[in-house]
Amino acid sequence: MADGRCPVAAVPAALEASRLAGLWPVKAALFHDLDGLRGRIEALQQAFPPSALHAIAIKANPLIEVLRAIVSTGAGLEAASWEEVQCAVAAGCPADRIVFDSPAKTDEELRLALELGVWINADNDQELERLEALGAPGNGKVGLRVNPQIGEGSIAMTSTVGRQSKFGLPLHRAPELLKRFPFLSGLHVHTGSQGVGLALLQEAALAVAKVVMEHELEWIDIGGGIPVRYRNDAPMPPSFKAWADAVASIPRDVKLLTEIGRSVHAPTGWALSEVVCTKQVDGRETLVIHLGADLLLRRVYKAEQWDHEFVLLNADGTPKGGPTRPTQIAGPLCFSGDLLTHDRPLPAAEPGDLLMIRDTGAYTLSMWSRHCSRGLPPTIGYNTEGARLLHAGEQPQDVVRFWSLHS
Ligand SMILES: Cc1ncc(COP(=O)(O)O)c(C=O)c1O
Repeated sequence: MADGRCPVAAVPAALEASRLAGLWPVKAALFHDLDGLRGRIEALQQAFPPSALHAIAIKANPLIEVLRAIVSTGAGLEAASWEEVQCAVAAGCPADRIVFDSPAKTDEELRLALELGVWINADNDQELERLEALGAPGNGKVGLRVNPQIGEGSIAMTSTVGRQSKFGLPLHRAPELLKRFPFLSGLHVHTGSQGVGLALLQEAALAVAKVVMEHELEWIDIGGGIPVRYRNDAPMPPSFKAWADAVASIPRDVKLLTEIGRSVHAPTGWALSEVVCTKQVDGRETLVIHLGADLLLRRVYKAEQWDHEFVLLNADGTPKGGPTRPTQIAGPLCFSGDLLTHDRPLPAAEPGDLLMIRDTGAYTLSMWSRHCSRGLPPTIGYNTEGARLLHAGEQPQDVVRFWSLHS
Protein backbone atom coordinates (compact mmCIF):
# COMPACT_ATOMS: atom_id res chain seq x y z
CA MET A 1 0.00 0.00 0.00
CA ALA A 2 1.46 3.36 -1.04
CA ASP A 3 0.54 5.02 2.25
CA GLY A 4 2.34 2.24 4.19
CA ARG A 5 -0.63 1.51 6.46
CA CYS A 6 -0.77 -1.83 8.14
CA PRO A 7 -3.93 -3.60 6.86
CA VAL A 8 -6.62 -4.87 9.22
CA ALA A 9 -6.18 -8.27 7.55
CA ALA A 10 -2.70 -8.51 9.12
CA VAL A 11 -4.11 -8.59 12.67
CA PRO A 12 -4.96 -12.33 13.10
CA ALA A 13 -1.44 -13.46 12.10
CA ALA A 14 0.18 -10.82 14.34
CA LEU A 15 -1.99 -11.97 17.26
CA GLU A 16 -1.16 -15.60 16.62
CA ALA A 17 2.58 -14.81 16.52
CA SER A 18 2.20 -12.82 19.76
CA ARG A 19 0.29 -15.68 21.37
CA LEU A 20 3.04 -18.14 20.40
CA ALA A 21 5.62 -15.78 21.94
CA GLY A 22 3.61 -15.65 25.18
CA LEU A 23 2.82 -11.95 24.74
CA TRP A 24 -0.91 -12.16 24.02
CA PRO A 25 -3.60 -11.95 25.33
CA VAL A 26 -3.26 -8.87 27.55
CA LYS A 27 -5.88 -6.22 28.21
CA ALA A 28 -4.34 -3.75 25.75
CA ALA A 29 -1.15 -3.52 23.69
CA LEU A 30 0.54 -1.59 20.92
CA PHE A 31 1.84 -3.42 17.86
CA HIS A 32 4.53 -2.52 15.34
CA ASP A 33 5.06 -4.14 11.97
CA LEU A 34 8.87 -4.22 11.97
CA ASP A 35 9.16 -5.15 8.29
CA GLY A 36 6.76 -2.32 7.48
CA LEU A 37 8.93 0.12 9.45
CA ARG A 38 12.05 -1.03 7.62
CA GLY A 39 10.18 -0.72 4.32
CA ARG A 40 9.21 2.89 5.06
CA ILE A 41 12.82 3.83 5.80
CA GLU A 42 14.11 2.04 2.72
CA ALA A 43 11.55 3.88 0.59
CA LEU A 44 12.83 7.14 2.06
CA GLN A 45 16.46 6.21 1.43
CA GLN A 46 15.73 5.18 -2.15
CA ALA A 47 13.81 8.39 -2.90
CA PHE A 48 16.69 10.72 -1.97
CA PRO A 49 20.34 10.82 -3.09
CA PRO A 50 22.40 8.23 -1.17
CA SER A 51 24.43 10.96 0.57
CA ALA A 52 21.32 12.28 2.39
CA LEU A 53 21.10 11.68 6.14
CA HIS A 54 17.61 10.69 7.28
CA ALA A 55 17.43 11.43 11.00
CA ILE A 56 14.14 9.88 12.10
CA ALA A 57 12.40 12.01 14.77
CA ILE A 58 12.72 10.25 18.13
CA LYS A 59 9.80 12.21 19.59
CA ALA A 60 7.46 10.29 17.29
CA ASN A 61 8.46 6.99 18.87
CA PRO A 62 11.25 6.80 21.43
CA LEU A 63 11.23 3.07 22.21
CA ILE A 64 14.89 2.07 22.25
CA GLU A 65 14.17 -1.21 20.43
CA VAL A 66 12.44 0.76 17.69
CA LEU A 67 15.38 3.19 17.53
CA ARG A 68 17.74 0.22 17.23
CA ALA A 69 15.71 -1.09 14.30
CA ILE A 70 16.01 2.34 12.66
CA VAL A 71 19.76 2.58 13.24
CA SER A 72 20.24 -0.88 11.70
CA THR A 73 18.93 0.50 8.37
CA GLY A 74 21.72 3.09 8.26
CA ALA A 75 19.35 5.95 9.09
CA GLY A 76 20.04 8.45 11.88
CA LEU A 77 17.95 9.95 14.67
CA GLU A 78 16.68 13.46 15.36
CA ALA A 79 16.69 14.35 19.07
CA ALA A 80 14.46 17.12 20.40
CA SER A 81 16.03 17.09 23.85
CA TRP A 82 19.29 16.07 25.50
CA GLU A 83 17.42 13.06 26.87
CA GLU A 84 16.58 12.03 23.32
CA VAL A 85 20.26 12.34 22.41
CA GLN A 86 20.91 9.85 25.20
CA CYS A 87 18.20 7.55 23.77
CA ALA A 88 19.94 7.71 20.38
CA VAL A 89 23.28 6.83 21.98
CA ALA A 90 21.63 3.97 23.92
CA ALA A 91 20.25 2.63 20.63
CA GLY A 92 23.78 2.51 19.19
CA CYS A 93 23.41 5.46 16.83
CA PRO A 94 26.79 6.88 15.75
CA ALA A 95 27.19 10.55 16.72
CA ASP A 96 27.48 11.69 13.11
CA ARG A 97 23.94 10.37 12.51
CA ILE A 98 22.39 12.23 15.49
CA VAL A 99 20.79 15.65 14.98
CA PHE A 100 20.17 17.70 18.14
CA ASP A 101 17.29 20.20 17.86
CA SER A 102 15.68 22.02 20.74
CA PRO A 103 14.72 25.62 21.43
CA ALA A 104 15.88 25.18 25.04
CA LYS A 105 19.38 23.73 25.36
CA THR A 106 21.55 24.33 28.43
CA ASP A 107 25.24 25.28 28.23
CA GLU A 108 26.14 21.88 29.61
CA GLU A 109 24.05 20.13 26.95
CA LEU A 110 25.67 22.22 24.23
CA ARG A 111 29.14 21.47 25.60
CA LEU A 112 28.44 17.74 25.71
CA ALA A 113 26.85 17.80 22.27
CA LEU A 114 29.93 19.49 20.79
CA GLU A 115 32.15 16.96 22.53
CA LEU A 116 30.04 14.06 21.23
CA GLY A 117 30.16 15.42 17.70
CA VAL A 118 26.45 15.40 16.87
CA TRP A 119 24.80 17.81 14.43
CA ILE A 120 23.42 20.82 16.31
CA ASN A 121 20.66 23.08 15.04
CA ALA A 122 20.86 26.27 17.07
CA ASP A 123 17.55 28.01 17.64
CA ASN A 124 18.57 31.64 18.04
CA ASP A 125 21.40 34.18 18.21
CA GLN A 126 21.80 33.86 21.99
CA GLU A 127 22.40 30.15 21.55
CA LEU A 128 24.94 30.94 18.83
CA GLU A 129 26.75 33.29 21.22
CA ARG A 130 26.82 30.51 23.83
CA LEU A 131 28.16 28.07 21.24
CA GLU A 132 30.83 30.58 20.29
CA ALA A 133 31.81 30.97 23.94
CA LEU A 134 32.11 27.20 24.15
CA GLY A 135 34.61 27.35 21.32
CA ALA A 136 32.14 26.32 18.63
CA PRO A 137 33.86 24.02 16.36
CA GLY A 138 34.98 23.92 12.86
CA ASN A 139 33.49 20.44 12.68
CA GLY A 140 30.92 21.58 10.15
CA LYS A 141 27.92 20.38 12.09
CA VAL A 142 26.45 23.52 13.63
CA GLY A 143 23.49 25.07 11.83
CA LEU A 144 20.74 27.57 12.53
CA ARG A 145 17.01 26.95 12.49
CA VAL A 146 15.27 29.52 10.32
CA ASN A 147 11.67 30.37 9.62
CA PRO A 148 10.81 31.52 6.08
CA GLN A 149 7.48 32.86 7.42
CA ILE A 150 5.41 31.73 4.45
CA GLY A 151 2.21 30.40 5.98
CA GLU A 152 0.50 27.77 8.06
CA GLY A 153 -0.94 24.34 7.36
CA SER A 154 -4.41 23.25 8.44
CA ILE A 155 -3.36 22.66 12.07
CA ALA A 156 -2.06 25.90 13.58
CA MET A 157 -0.69 24.21 16.68
CA THR A 158 1.74 22.07 14.72
CA SER A 159 2.58 24.62 11.99
CA THR A 160 5.98 26.23 12.27
CA VAL A 161 6.60 28.49 9.27
CA GLY A 162 3.85 31.04 9.85
CA ARG A 163 4.71 34.64 10.70
CA GLN A 164 4.72 33.78 14.38
CA SER A 165 6.57 30.67 15.45
CA LYS A 166 8.45 30.02 18.64
CA PHE A 167 11.10 28.16 16.65
CA GLY A 168 14.21 29.55 15.04
CA LEU A 169 14.71 33.04 13.65
CA PRO A 170 13.19 34.67 10.56
CA LEU A 171 15.03 33.61 7.42
CA HIS A 172 15.73 37.24 6.46
CA ARG A 173 18.11 37.45 9.42
CA ALA A 174 20.26 34.57 8.13
CA PRO A 175 22.76 36.67 6.08
CA GLU A 176 23.62 38.84 9.10
CA LEU A 177 23.98 35.82 11.40
CA LEU A 178 26.03 33.78 8.94
CA LYS A 179 28.48 36.69 8.79
CA ARG A 180 28.58 37.09 12.56
CA PHE A 181 28.98 33.37 13.30
CA PRO A 182 31.30 31.98 10.61
CA PHE A 183 31.28 28.52 12.21
CA LEU A 184 27.71 28.05 10.90
CA SER A 185 27.79 25.56 8.05
CA GLY A 186 24.12 24.83 7.40
CA LEU A 187 20.52 25.96 7.82
CA HIS A 188 17.54 24.07 9.21
CA VAL A 189 13.83 24.42 8.53
CA HIS A 190 10.90 22.33 9.74
CA THR A 191 7.55 23.28 8.26
CA GLY A 192 5.11 21.56 10.58
CA SER A 193 3.82 18.18 11.61
CA GLN A 194 0.62 16.91 9.90
CA GLY A 195 -1.66 19.36 8.15
CA VAL A 196 1.05 20.71 5.84
CA GLY A 197 0.87 19.89 2.14
CA LEU A 198 3.67 19.20 -0.27
CA ALA A 199 3.47 22.71 -1.75
CA LEU A 200 4.20 24.38 1.61
CA LEU A 201 6.94 21.86 2.44
CA GLN A 202 8.53 22.58 -0.92
CA GLU A 203 8.22 26.35 -0.70
CA ALA A 204 9.82 26.40 2.75
CA ALA A 205 12.68 24.07 1.80
CA LEU A 206 13.48 25.91 -1.44
CA ALA A 207 13.35 29.35 0.22
CA VAL A 208 15.96 28.18 2.72
CA ALA A 209 17.97 26.34 0.04
CA LYS A 210 18.30 29.61 -1.88
CA VAL A 211 20.08 31.22 1.08
CA VAL A 212 22.20 28.08 1.60
CA MET A 213 23.39 28.33 -2.00
CA GLU A 214 23.92 32.09 -1.95
CA HIS A 215 26.20 31.67 1.07
CA GLU A 216 27.84 28.48 -0.18
CA LEU A 217 26.90 26.57 2.96
CA GLU A 218 27.60 22.86 3.15
CA TRP A 219 24.26 21.45 4.22
CA ILE A 220 20.55 21.98 4.61
CA ASP A 221 18.21 20.19 7.00
CA ILE A 222 14.68 20.21 5.55
CA GLY A 223 13.01 18.75 8.65
CA GLY A 224 10.02 16.43 8.72
CA GLY A 225 6.29 16.98 8.43
CA ILE A 226 5.21 14.64 5.61
CA PRO A 227 1.55 14.09 6.48
CA VAL A 228 -0.14 10.71 6.82
CA ARG A 229 -3.76 9.72 6.37
CA TYR A 230 -5.52 8.53 9.49
CA ARG A 231 -8.88 7.93 7.78
CA ASN A 232 -9.62 5.67 4.82
CA ASP A 233 -11.51 8.50 3.14
CA ALA A 234 -8.68 11.06 3.50
CA PRO A 235 -6.62 11.90 0.40
CA MET A 236 -3.51 9.83 -0.26
CA PRO A 237 -0.52 11.56 1.37
CA PRO A 238 2.54 12.56 -0.67
CA SER A 239 5.07 9.79 -1.16
CA PHE A 240 8.70 10.17 -0.11
CA LYS A 241 9.55 10.15 -3.81
CA ALA A 242 7.21 13.09 -4.42
CA TRP A 243 8.93 14.98 -1.62
CA ALA A 244 12.39 14.16 -2.94
CA ASP A 245 11.32 15.30 -6.42
CA ALA A 246 9.95 18.53 -4.95
CA VAL A 247 13.39 19.45 -3.59
CA ALA A 248 15.46 17.89 -6.39
CA SER A 249 16.66 21.34 -7.52
CA ILE A 250 18.89 21.56 -4.43
CA PRO A 251 22.35 20.87 -5.85
CA ARG A 252 23.89 17.47 -5.06
CA ASP A 253 26.96 19.04 -3.46
CA VAL A 254 24.77 20.46 -0.67
CA LYS A 255 24.31 17.67 1.89
CA LEU A 256 20.65 17.01 2.64
CA LEU A 257 19.32 16.11 6.07
CA THR A 258 15.71 15.13 6.77
CA GLU A 259 13.87 14.60 10.08
CA ILE A 260 10.74 12.58 9.40
CA GLY A 261 8.80 11.04 12.27
CA ARG A 262 5.09 10.62 11.72
CA SER A 263 5.04 9.26 8.18
CA VAL A 264 7.69 6.65 8.95
CA HIS A 265 6.07 5.44 12.16
CA ALA A 266 2.33 6.15 12.29
CA PRO A 267 1.12 3.81 9.52
CA THR A 268 3.07 0.77 10.72
CA GLY A 269 1.73 0.78 14.29
CA TRP A 270 -1.71 -0.06 15.69
CA ALA A 271 -3.25 -0.51 19.12
CA LEU A 272 -5.61 -3.12 20.45
CA SER A 273 -7.75 -3.17 23.57
CA GLU A 274 -10.27 -5.65 24.79
CA VAL A 275 -13.81 -4.30 25.07
CA VAL A 276 -14.36 -4.09 28.83
CA CYS A 277 -18.11 -3.47 28.83
CA THR A 278 -20.94 -2.18 26.69
CA LYS A 279 -23.92 -0.07 27.74
CA GLN A 280 -26.42 2.48 26.52
CA VAL A 281 -25.76 6.05 27.63
CA ASP A 282 -28.62 8.42 26.81
CA GLY A 283 -29.77 6.00 24.18
CA ARG A 284 -26.31 5.87 22.66
CA GLU A 285 -24.43 2.60 22.25
CA THR A 286 -21.27 2.89 24.29
CA LEU A 287 -18.31 0.61 24.68
CA VAL A 288 -15.50 1.07 27.19
CA ILE A 289 -11.90 0.13 26.41
CA HIS A 290 -8.57 0.33 28.22
CA LEU A 291 -7.11 3.15 26.07
CA GLY A 292 -8.30 6.74 25.98
CA ALA A 293 -6.83 10.19 26.37
CA ASP A 294 -3.77 8.64 28.01
CA LEU A 295 -2.74 7.25 24.61
CA LEU A 296 -4.57 9.59 22.22
CA LEU A 297 -4.35 12.96 23.89
CA ARG A 298 -4.82 14.98 20.72
CA ARG A 299 -7.67 12.81 19.48
CA VAL A 300 -9.66 13.40 22.68
CA TYR A 301 -9.01 17.12 23.07
CA LYS A 302 -8.96 18.16 19.38
CA ALA A 303 -11.16 15.50 17.79
CA GLU A 304 -11.82 17.49 14.63
CA GLN A 305 -8.12 17.61 13.75
CA TRP A 306 -6.90 14.19 14.86
CA ASP A 307 -8.93 11.19 13.83
CA HIS A 308 -8.28 7.46 13.49
CA GLU A 309 -9.99 4.38 12.14
CA PHE A 310 -11.56 2.28 14.92
CA VAL A 311 -12.29 -1.32 13.94
CA LEU A 312 -14.25 -3.83 15.99
CA LEU A 313 -12.70 -7.31 15.90
CA ASN A 314 -13.50 -10.78 17.19
CA ALA A 315 -11.16 -12.22 19.81
CA ASP A 316 -9.10 -13.87 17.04
CA GLY A 317 -8.51 -10.53 15.32
CA THR A 318 -10.92 -11.00 12.41
CA PRO A 319 -13.31 -8.09 11.74
CA LYS A 320 -16.67 -8.35 13.43
CA GLY A 321 -19.63 -8.32 11.06
CA GLY A 322 -23.28 -7.35 11.38
CA PRO A 323 -25.29 -4.17 11.02
CA THR A 324 -23.63 -1.03 12.34
CA ARG A 325 -25.01 1.64 14.66
CA PRO A 326 -23.60 4.93 15.92
CA THR A 327 -21.27 4.05 18.78
CA GLN A 328 -19.47 6.01 21.42
CA ILE A 329 -16.02 4.62 22.33
CA ALA A 330 -15.08 5.58 25.87
CA GLY A 331 -11.62 5.47 27.39
CA PRO A 332 -10.90 4.44 30.98
CA LEU A 333 -10.00 7.82 32.50
CA CYS A 334 -11.92 9.70 35.17
CA PHE A 335 -13.44 12.52 33.16
CA SER A 336 -16.51 12.43 30.98
CA GLY A 337 -14.73 13.85 27.97
CA ASP A 338 -12.49 10.79 27.67
CA LEU A 339 -14.21 9.69 24.45
CA LEU A 340 -12.48 8.47 21.30
CA THR A 341 -15.62 8.66 19.16
CA HIS A 342 -19.16 9.96 19.67
CA ASP A 343 -21.12 8.29 16.90
CA ARG A 344 -18.87 6.06 14.81
CA PRO A 345 -20.80 3.31 12.98
CA LEU A 346 -19.71 -0.02 14.50
CA PRO A 347 -21.30 -3.47 14.70
CA ALA A 348 -22.79 -4.51 18.05
CA ALA A 349 -19.96 -5.11 20.52
CA GLU A 350 -19.75 -7.39 23.52
CA PRO A 351 -17.21 -7.81 26.30
CA GLY A 352 -14.24 -9.80 25.08
CA ASP A 353 -14.31 -8.32 21.56
CA LEU A 354 -11.26 -6.33 20.52
CA LEU A 355 -11.12 -2.73 19.44
CA MET A 356 -8.35 -1.88 17.00
CA ILE A 357 -7.09 1.69 16.62
CA ARG A 358 -5.16 2.08 13.38
CA ASP A 359 -2.07 4.23 12.71
CA THR A 360 -0.87 4.61 16.29
CA GLY A 361 2.85 4.21 15.57
CA ALA A 362 3.71 7.90 16.11
CA TYR A 363 3.04 10.45 18.87
CA THR A 364 1.04 8.05 21.03
CA LEU A 365 3.28 6.35 23.62
CA SER A 366 5.60 9.37 23.47
CA MET A 367 2.67 11.56 24.58
CA TRP A 368 1.39 9.09 27.19
CA SER A 369 -0.44 10.85 29.99
CA ARG A 370 -0.22 9.87 33.66
CA HIS A 371 -3.83 10.81 34.41
CA CYS A 372 -5.34 8.09 36.67
CA SER A 373 -1.91 6.44 36.82
CA ARG A 374 -2.72 3.64 34.45
CA GLY A 375 0.34 1.65 33.38
CA LEU A 376 1.83 1.98 29.92
CA PRO A 377 0.57 -0.90 27.74
CA PRO A 378 3.20 -3.32 26.41
CA THR A 379 4.49 -2.88 22.86
CA ILE A 380 4.91 -5.89 20.59
CA GLY A 381 6.95 -5.95 17.40
CA TYR A 382 6.22 -8.54 14.74
CA ASN A 383 7.28 -9.59 11.29
CA THR A 384 7.04 -12.72 9.16
CA GLU A 385 9.41 -14.51 11.54
CA GLY A 386 7.34 -14.00 14.69
CA ALA A 387 6.70 -11.53 17.49
CA ARG A 388 8.87 -10.06 20.25
CA LEU A 389 8.52 -7.57 23.06
CA LEU A 390 9.69 -4.04 22.25
CA HIS A 391 8.66 -2.63 25.62
CA ALA A 392 7.20 -4.45 28.60
CA GLY A 393 4.86 -1.63 29.55
CA GLU A 394 4.17 -1.05 33.23
CA GLN A 395 2.70 -3.12 36.01
CA PRO A 396 1.03 -1.40 39.01
CA GLN A 397 4.27 -1.68 41.02
CA ASP A 398 6.14 0.17 38.23
CA VAL A 399 3.66 3.03 38.48
CA VAL A 400 4.06 3.17 42.27
CA ARG A 401 7.84 3.33 41.73
CA PHE A 402 7.41 6.15 39.20
CA TRP A 403 5.50 8.27 41.72
CA SER A 404 7.80 7.43 44.64
CA LEU A 405 10.53 9.63 46.08
CA HIS A 406 13.09 6.90 45.41
CA SER A 407 12.43 5.20 42.12
C1 LIG B 1 12.23 20.05 14.44
C2 LIG B 1 11.36 18.91 14.08
N1 LIG B 1 11.83 18.02 13.20
C3 LIG B 1 11.10 16.94 12.85
C4 LIG B 1 9.83 16.72 13.36
C5 LIG B 1 9.06 15.50 12.92
O1 LIG B 1 7.89 15.84 12.26
P1 LIG B 1 6.96 14.71 11.66
O2 LIG B 1 6.84 13.68 12.72
O3 LIG B 1 5.68 15.36 11.36
O4 LIG B 1 7.64 14.17 10.44
C6 LIG B 1 9.30 17.64 14.28
C7 LIG B 1 7.96 17.43 14.85
O5 LIG B 1 7.44 18.15 15.63
C8 LIG B 1 10.09 18.76 14.65
O6 LIG B 1 9.63 19.65 15.52
